[in-house]
Amino acid sequence: MKNLILSNIAELVTCKGHAPKSGKEMNDVGLIKEGCVVISNGKIIAVGSTKELLSQYNIKDYETIDCSNKAVLPGFIDSHTHFVFGGYREDEFISRASGDTYMDILKRGGGIANSVKSTREASLEELVKLGRERLDSMLEFGVTTVEGKSGYGLDYNTEIKQLKVMSELNNSHIIDVKSTFLGAHSVPLEYKGKEKDYLDYIITKVLPLVKKENLATFVDIFCELGVFNIEQSRYFLTAAKEMGFSLKIHADEIVELGGALLAAELKAISADHLLNASKKGIKALAKNNVITTLLPATAFSLKEDYANAREMINYNCAIALATDFNPGSCFTNSIPLVIALATLYMKMSINEVITALTINGACALGIQDEVGSIEIGKKADLIILDYPSINYLPYNIGINIVKTVIKNGQVALNR
Ligand code: NIG
Ligand code: FE
Repeated sequence: MKNLILSNIAELVTCKGHAPKSGKEMNDVGLIKEGCVVISNGKIIAVGSTKELLSQYNIKDYETIDCSNKAVLPGFIDSHTHFVFGGYREDEFISRASGDTYMDILKRGGGIANSVKSTREASLEELVKLGRERLDSMLEFGVTTVEGKSGYGLDYNTEIKQLKVMSELNNSHIIDVKSTFLGAHSVPLEYKGKEKDYLDYIITKVLPLVKKENLATFVDIFCELGVFNIEQSRYFLTAAKEMGFSLKIHADEIVELGGALLAAELKAISADHLLNASKKGIKALAKNNVITTLLPATAFSLKEDYANAREMINYNCAIALATDFNPGSCFTNSIPLVIALATLYMKMSINEVITALTINGACALGIQDEVGSIEIGKKADLIILDYPSINYLPYNIGINIVKTVIKNGQVALNR
């Protein structure tokens, strides 16, 4: 394995830290001008100024990348996606664009049920192939770790198949994949009107195998009007917690049901969406150190109002940003789009956005000691931009300015 020095970095954004950055701390991205990073055996072994480090390390022993006029930052962590699925739902997008809502489509029996049908029909090999292509595309945007959820199976075989696809991709693709069990994404047709029976089925018949074979770290639920209510969500998540899973929750997305308060009560690792979370809910999340994962591309795609990021930062929440890439509500894996929406419409500073896509994303996956920042001992997962500062990320609206992606200390992509 080649050792590497990145030198003369115009702006080195380290995002240094091993804990979530909340409130005002989100603005501190640990910036070093004229920076340098030394990488050995896939890990970062020194971070500092070029002048200082080039006097300590013998450049002959390293391959060097001159980063003059370039910014370097940690690889992005897309901490909320549903990237393993069969089929597409382009017709639903077209009908939403002309006025239907996500909920109208759900009530007509469309939505998640359509993806369930095609995912049940797809073979493991087909899903691996699609998943690999999707990860390749994420790598182009500088994503080095991805979270992926099951939830398009809603039966034993297909939920396990989706998780096995992610495990196979984690082993064979350069991107790290962290898995979440989202069997409680919807009630399958076979259990219509029998939500509690369905939850009991997954608790007793599916989750034990997921645990035994270590197929997922997290368990998630879609807590939403017409899907699972608060009582059902509490029941399910409590059972998952007792089995040793870490919890996530799709909370207060379309209707404020109290999902944020539930996430705080159960000390979930993250509460996600939160477009309609109450003040009380937001305060409780901050107080209980639950990461607030915001997904602006979904709000954009559904034509909903954005989550109130400024209020969350005022209340001292730690925000992570992610794409929510999925076949229905948000068919995009575009990090440039997320950056544009967060800066322009959620009024987040670019520093807050970068914190949310790196160290706070790592914290939302419990891997903040391995990745999420450029500092000694962490994996050398980083990206080189084509421009000298992270200010060029939102300025290039919707444009990918990632030049090089380094994953585990190796150049994984050069554009
Ligand atoms: O995060 N909100 C629930 N789940 C997904 C949408 C899934 C789908 O429509 O296929 C989301 O937006
Ligand atoms: Fe989601």
